[in-house]
Parts: sequence; structure tokens; C-alpha cells
Amino acid sequence: MAGGGFVDSSAGRQYNGGVTLFVILTCMVGATGGLIFGYDIGISGGVTSMDIFLKRFFPSVYRKASTKAGLESPYCKFDSHLLQFFTSSLYLAALVASFFAAIITKKFGRKMSMFIGGLTFLIGSILNGFAQNVIMLIIGRVFLGIGVGFCNQSVPVYLSEMAPANLRGALNMGFQMATTIGILAANLINYGTAKMNGHLGWRLSLGLAAIPATMVTIGGLILPDSPNSLIDRGQRDEAKRILQKIRGTEDVGEEFQDLVEASETSKSVDNPWKNIMERKNRPQLIMAILIPSFQQLTGINVIMFYAPVLFKTLGFGNEASLMSAVITGGVNVVATIVSILTVDKAGRRVLFLEGGIQMLICQVLIAYFIGKTYGTTGEGAFSTGAANFVLFLICAYVAGFAWSWGPLGWLVPSEIFPLETRPAGQAMTVMFNMIFTFVIGQCFLSMLCVMKFGLFIFFSGFVIIMTLFVYFFLPETKGVPIEEMYAIWKAHWFWGKFIPDEALGSYATNIQISEKA
Ligand code: BGC
Repeated sequence: MAGGGFVDSSAGRQYNGGVTLFVILTCMVGATGGLIFGYDIGISGGVTSMDIFLKRFFPSVYRKASTKAGLESPYCKFDSHLLQFFTSSLYLAALVASFFAAIITKKFGRKMSMFIGGLTFLIGSILNGFAQNVIMLIIGRVFLGIGVGFCNQSVPVYLSEMAPANLRGALNMGFQMATTIGILAANLINYGTAKMNGHLGWRLSLGLAAIPATMVTIGGLILPDSPNSLIDRGQRDEAKRILQKIRGTEDVGEEFQDLVEASETSKSVDNPWKNIMERKNRPQLIMAILIPSFQQLTGINVIMFYAPVLFKTLGFGNEASLMSAVITGGVNVVATIVSILTVDKAGRRVLFLEGGIQMLICQVLIAYFIGKTYGTTGEGAFSTGAANFVLFLICAYVAGFAWSWGPLGWLVPSEIFPLETRPAGQAMTVMFNMIFTFVIGQCFLSMLCVMKFGLFIFFSGFVIIMTLFVYFFLPETKGVPIEEMYAIWKAHWFWGKFIPDEALGSYATNIQISEKA
């Protein structure tokens, strides 16, 4: 789940009540949060490939990009720190904002964070849609980033707290699904608006984010806060009233009691940041750092952020570049559905390993074909057949990501933490994801200029490392209730030695805590 979420730790428990209108409404807000996240990922690459946009805001890039031959290597056409900062500033802002969001979400409730997130999104999209200069553009992206920080922190948590227990797992993957739909929507809108005359096209592309932003803002205003958050903040009567309303029954006593006890036990848990540093929590700590970092080091956002620019670099025309981005966006959505349908049957490891091998093969072949045609000078041209084949390879690479590291890069970290380290673990996962998203966004075009086709080999090196890492170090977590997760680490050939037998005592306490949670 982008932004992290809570796992259903009440596995197997049946409470009264079912799916109500309220739950459906909250799911819609959640989906909207995911949509905006995806929209922001997909929109910038398309507008930066539009000549009129480049001419106005990045004239030096425009001059370089439109130079026919000679002076500039085609690999370096779009190499500009400012242009990259236009994309990446959002993730830097999201990283910083997520610290504040974590505090506000806990102290003032989930809906407060959603409201702040929605409002800053709205301001960001208006600033971008009406941008007069590059400063206004970047400030707009920073506001969008603050929105991402707040919404990704609060919406997934809110969703998992409002939904009945048996829907929580599906919602976890649902947020990722909404993200991919947001990316595809951005690709489609760019394809449509690029045909418009004058500046209207890019203004619409950037400004349309205001629609989902308004929906999240209104959601943050009118939806009730989650019972968990109300209990945490001492408003038990209100919490019970809301729980009855969202479950559609008066008889919520058992679930309410469990929520109260979970809140009490979580308050008695030691500082989670201190806890996660202890030796016995080493496996989770390493996973919280490596899984999100690896997810980004697959190089996926090279495609998600810069597909149209990359296709233009490879000699595709304007329209063909934007169309190719639509195709990769569509593949991303479909392959995510495949993952949702298979993850609980095939398991996480099979998907990770298959996806890794598939990405690796595609990256090596992409590097080979680009290298063969363009060499190190960047001079050359693909035949139509070769261009289509490279597009096919990029799609196969995206599919490999979308059924492995895409959703699992969020799902697995969210299901391996026991209660005592969960808040710290989730925060670290988001943090490392945003750091590496920022780095890739900021460096890709410059790296392409320096490494040329070798850039794809560079990322494939990481794919080899992460696939081997999964093979040797990540135990299967399919169907393992959170309270039994400790046994998985203890039984593991490598992690087992980090878990002293004495620690099992404290794990045993966790088991009891999690059973109540
Ligand atoms: C990643 C994003 C990526 C998206 C692509 C997400 O899981 O966190 O960085 O753009 O997948 O679908």
C-alpha cells in the first residue's frame, strides 16, 4: 500500500455488521487518494515532452532537444537539473511532509490529515495549472508533494480502520491499483491535451488534478474520523457511535472492546524507534530499509516519470511517444490486477522471483538493442520493427514490476512488523521509498546522458542483487498471521541467529498484544 497501512491483525476474527454506505464512501476517498498519487507520477513526463511547455519554462532544454544533429548527443537532449527538479521536488516535499503528517494523523486524527492533504493538493494543482514561470511550477509541485505526504500517511490507515476486517487485505492492494489507474489517467490526458493549440493543453494536464483534490478535501471535511483514532484521542462515546454507524448495527460490543484494548496496549508499547533498533528486530529493520529502496532501484520510475521523454530520445515522434506512454500505463494496470488475483495463491516469493527475472531479461535486451542502434554517440534510428520490439520489451519490463515489486514493495513491509515496531517500520518504509523516488527523479536524465544505453544495465545490476536477496533472505509471508511472524524469522537460516531464545518471551507478549489488536 503506497504510504503504508495496517495489516489485519485480527485475522480470523468475525465481528458483527457488514459493508455499509459509509464504508463504500471511505473506499472512494481512499481510491481518490491513490488516484492523485498516480496522477502526479504520470503527468510530468508528458508535459515535459510537449514543445510549447518546454519552450516556455525550460527554453535551454527546448533548444537542445530541437537541435537536429551535431552539437548535442541525443542521450543528453533532456539533461537539465531544473527539469528533473520539476519532477522530483514533489517527492522531496512528500518526504518532509510525511514526518509532520505522522504527528498530525496521530494527534488530530486521520480526517484532519486528509483535509490538509486534499487542500494542499488543490493549491498545488491550481498553481501548476495557472503557472506563469518555473518558480510557480516548482512551488506547485512542492504543494502537491505535501499533499502526497499527508494523504499517503492518512488515507491507507483510515481505510484499513474503517473497513471490516475481511476487506483490509484487498484494500491494501487496492491503493496500489488506484495509483496505477492514476498514472494511466495522466498518460491518457497528456495524449489528449498535447493535441490542443496554445498553452491550454499542459495547463489542463496539470490543472485537472484539482478535481480529485477537491474530492479528497471534501471527504476530509464530511467523513467521520475512524473509531480507532477517536478512542486513541479519548472520545470513546463518539467512537462507539461511529462504529455502530459504519458497521450498520448496534451490536458492536466485541469489536469496540478489542479496539479499546488495542489502543491501551499500543500506548504501553515502548518507543517503537528504540525498539526497531534492537538486535532481535534486525530482520524487520533491514526489510524496512531495503524493500522500498529496492523497489525504486528497479528503475521503474524512469518509465513512469519519463516514458514520453525517453521515447522521444529514441526517435519516436511526439504523438507516438505519448501513445507509447499510454500503452505502458495500461500494461501497468493490467499486470497489477494479475498480482492481486495471484498473490495469496502463488505467494510473495514466486512473484518477486519471476518478476525480477523478467525485468532483468528485458533490461539487458533493451540495453542491447539501444546500444546496437545508437551506440555511444546516440546517432542512429530504429526501424519501425525495432522500435515496436523495444516498446514490447519495455511493456514486459513494466508487467514484471507491476506484479512483483510494485504492490509487494508496499504489502510485504506492512505485514511483517509486530505491533511494537509497526509505526516505526511503516514510517521508514515510506521514507526510504520517497528518498529513492526523489533520487531517481532527480538523476535519471543526467544519468542517461552519462551512462547512455548502459543505464539499463546499471538498473539490471540492482535487479540481480534484489532478486538474490529475496531468494536468500525473504521468507514467504503468504497466509502467515501477523502474530506468528516471529516464528518465520526464528526458523530462517540467516535471521534465526538474530532472535535469541530470551526474545521469544517478548515475542510471546506481542502475540497476545496482536491477538487483541
Ligand atoms: C511505486 C511508485 C511507482 C508505481 C508504479 C508504486 O508501487 O511506489 O514509485 O511509480 O508503483 O505503478
